[in-house]
Parts: sequence; C-alpha cells; structure tokens
Amino acid sequence: MSKTTKYLKKLAPYQKQKEFFQAKARRIAYGGARGGGKSWAMRTKVVLLALRYNGIQILLLRRTFPELRENHIMPLRRDLKGIAVFKESTKEFIFKNSSRIKLGYCQGEGDVLQYQGQAYEVIGMEEATQFTEFQYTALTESNRLSGNLKENFVPRMYFTCNPGGVGHSWVKRLFIDRDYRNGEDANDYVFIPSTVYDNKYLMSKNPEYIKNLESLPELRKKAMLHGDWDAFEGQYFTEFSREKHVVKPFEIPGNWLRFAAMDYGLDMCACLWFAYPENLDRIVVYRELYRPSMLLSQVADEIKKLCGNEKIRYIVASPDLAGRRQESGKSGFDILFSCGLKGLIPANNSRIEGWRLVREYLSAKKGEEPVLEFFAGCTNIIRTLPRLIFDKNNVEDAATTPHEVTHAPDALRYGLMSLGKNMFLGNKAGKTEKVFVEKPYIEFLNDRY
Ligand SMILES: Nc1ncnc2c1ncn2[C@@H]1O[C@H](COP(=O)(O)OP(=O)(O)O)[C@@H](O)[C@H]1O
Ligand SMILES: [Mg+2]
Repeated sequence: MSKTTKYLKKLAPYQKQKEFFQAKARRIAYGGARGGGKSWAMRTKVVLLALRYNGIQILLLRRTFPELRENHIMPLRRDLKGIAVFKESTKEFIFKNSSRIKLGYCQGEGDVLQYQGQAYEVIGMEEATQFTEFQYTALTESNRLSGNLKENFVPRMYFTCNPGGVGHSWVKRLFIDRDYRNGEDANDYVFIPSTVYDNKYLMSKNPEYIKNLESLPELRKKAMLHGDWDAFEGQYFTEFSREKHVVKPFEIPGNWLRFAAMDYGLDMCACLWFAYPENLDRIVVYRELYRPSMLLSQVADEIKKLCGNEKIRYIVASPDLAGRRQESGKSGFDILFSCGLKGLIPANNSRIEGWRLVREYLSAKKGEEPVLEFFAGCTNIIRTLPRLIFDKNNVEDAATTPHEVTHAPDALRYGLMSLGKNMFLGNKAGKTEKVFVEKPYIEFLNDRY
C-alpha cells in the first residue's frame, strides 16, 4: 500500500469536518468555537486538495510563526513523510504531482504584502479572526489561478475561526450576519459551525479540555464553548476604513488651524498633528511622531523640530503629565516647558466619552467624504486604530491591551476631545464655549505651560 493510500485510509473526519471538506463555495468557513477540530480540518483539507489537483498552488496562513509551526508545520511533516518533500527555507511542501502547499504567517499588518503579485488557487486562513480586514482583503487579490493547474478550478478560500480578536467584525459580517456589500454575493459564503462537542476525538481522549472550557468566565465561555459571536465584539472601531479615511497628503491651506495631541509613556511617545478649516467641517491628522523610550527633554526637542515654524495653537497631552513626580517634585509639564515646549494643556481623559466622540468623528461625513482623514504617512495611527479591541469587562470601553496598540488611538482621543462636539453643533473653531486657549499660538503662551 502506498504512503498516500495509507494516509488517506487513516483519515476519519467527523460529520462537521466532512461537511467542511465537501462544501462548494468560494469562501468556506469552519468552526466558531474552541476544540472543534479546526486546525485538523484545515490542514487535512489542503492536503486532500494538493493530492487531488495536480499542480495546485496553496497558501496556508496563521497569524504568528510559533502557531504555524505547532499547528501545521510539525503535524504536516509527520503526516506527509514519503508523500511530499518539505523545503525548510521556503516553508513549503512539494508533492510529486507538483502541487505545492506554502505555509506562511502575517504577524505585522504589512507582512501580507509579500503575497501580493503571487497566485494561489487556494488560500487557507487559520484563526481568521486574528487577521485584520486589510490583511484579508489583500489576500483575496492573490487568490487566483496560478497557471500550473490544468483542470478547471474556481479559486477559493478556506477559513477557520473563533469569535473575538481583531478580525471579529469582518468574519462575523461575512459568515454569521451575512450582511453583504458592494459586489459580494451571498452564494459565495458558507459557514459550518462546530464546537468541541463535535470533536469525538477530544471528547473521549481529553475530557479535561472540555471541563476547562466549561469553567471559563461566562462571556468567554459563551464565545469559546458555544461559539456565540455576540458574546463580545472584537474590533472597537469598525467605522474606520483605510479606503475612506486615509488620504494622500495634500498642501494644507495657510488659514487652517493646527494643534497637536500627545500620549506619553516611557515605552512609547505618540503625538499627532491636526489641521482644520475655521468652520470645522473637515479635520486631517497630517503628521505623527511615534517613538519608544524617549525622555521628556527629547520629546520636547523632537516636537519643536517637527513643528518647525507652523503655528500650533496648543498641544493636549496625557493628563498624568500634569501631576508632580515624586523624585523631582516637578511635573512632566514643568520639564517639557523648561525644555522650551509651550502651549501644553492636560487632555480630558474621560475614556468612554472620548471614544464615543472618536466614533462620531469617524462616522461623520461631508457629502460622500469622511470628515476625519489621515495622511497616508501617519502609518502608526492607521495601523493601530483598527486593532483596538473591546474591553472584555467594560463593554463600552476599549481594552488597554495589547498595550502597543493603544498609544496612537489615545492621542487621537485627546485631540478630538479638545475640539469637543463643536463640529457637530455647527460651531466655529475658536468662537465657542469650549475654547481651551485664549491666545492662539504657542509662542504667546509663555504665561502657561
Ligand atoms: N478527525 C480527526 N481525527 C483525529 N484527530 C482529530 C480529528 N479532528 C481533530 N482531531 C484532534 O483533536 C485535537 C483538537 O483538534 P484541533 O484541530 O486542534 O482543534 P481546534 O483547532 O478547533 O482547536 C487535536 O489533537 C487534533 O489532532
Ligand atoms: Mg486550532
């Protein structure tokens, strides 16, 4: 008996996995809960496709390399001994019929770009809710005929998923809510739900695993054990869209007003620069500073340098900087001020109110165009804003982890809070009850911070 026949004979998918294998659509998702045999189903399906279609090109992705190695590279190397050759350098399995399974990961938002311009008839995204919508969309462009496959074949993508994570919203929209938009066809999307109770293998060999899931906190249990997609939402700002909110930099008219907002921590200093016309019907974030491990004196120098001779009305900054530090008795503002940075104002840090305002600004439109825009060069706010997720315990708030993604959104929140609702109330800038600076420009603010 050949190795391949032996491999195939040993396979025993259970009912839900069979449905996944047999599904016919361009986008097929499986799972929705922990332990439903998702990874097994995914890696087995791609092997079956590689054996069935001579020359097929397949890309199998996970978000991080350690997960990829654990869940796929190691088990596949074991299963495919004598069936396919593994090339370590490129992380691909080459079959005798010249089919290829390439394994990859997309840790950073931009890692997905390495697949641009390549062609794979089949793309598998494991734990799809760990991927951003941007990554998904970029990958759909690589899901096309490679030219190596002689048979007719309609390119398709396979997904496995759990609720939660940064990609919760797009996966839920396509496969659970089935809310289709421009050009998307409902017939292309199939979802096969499965939970750990479908996994006979785990049920008999590892009842402990199920006990652990059953003892999770209520919300998490709903999501992980029962696959309830509404138990918690993932992405905090579903309103944000790269397509809509990110613009090519343009020359800012001389009469626009400018200010900056900064979130400072020793791990990261995030500062954003805003500009808007006096009637406040548009606002652009036109510059960012995003750098770890800066001393306050360095922050002052860098911000001054970046401002050049622009007229910056004020800089709102993390309110904790206004507090006196124990070691020196000086506040962060004192230090920044003594280094020549003027016009500092402590930010209003009401989180829930602030996030709500950010949401309003993101949704606001002037005709077809969004009111709030980001220059394409502000890559860190553009990258981190869609990665902010809901706090699991306080459903209105954004999570403060992963910490790395919170700094630039916090600065955005401080900045917009300094404008308040003036835009929505039809107020003009600088002529409202919410004026934070009586005198317009930094150089005149010597009497304050
Ligand atoms: N049809 C199957 N036959 C044999 N083992 C399976 C099968 N389906 C799942 N398993 C095993 O069950 C365990 C959990 O499955 P896995 O695919 O890792 O679940 P998930 O990715 O949904 O958490 C793994 O050890 C896996 O190898
Ligand atoms: Mg898995």
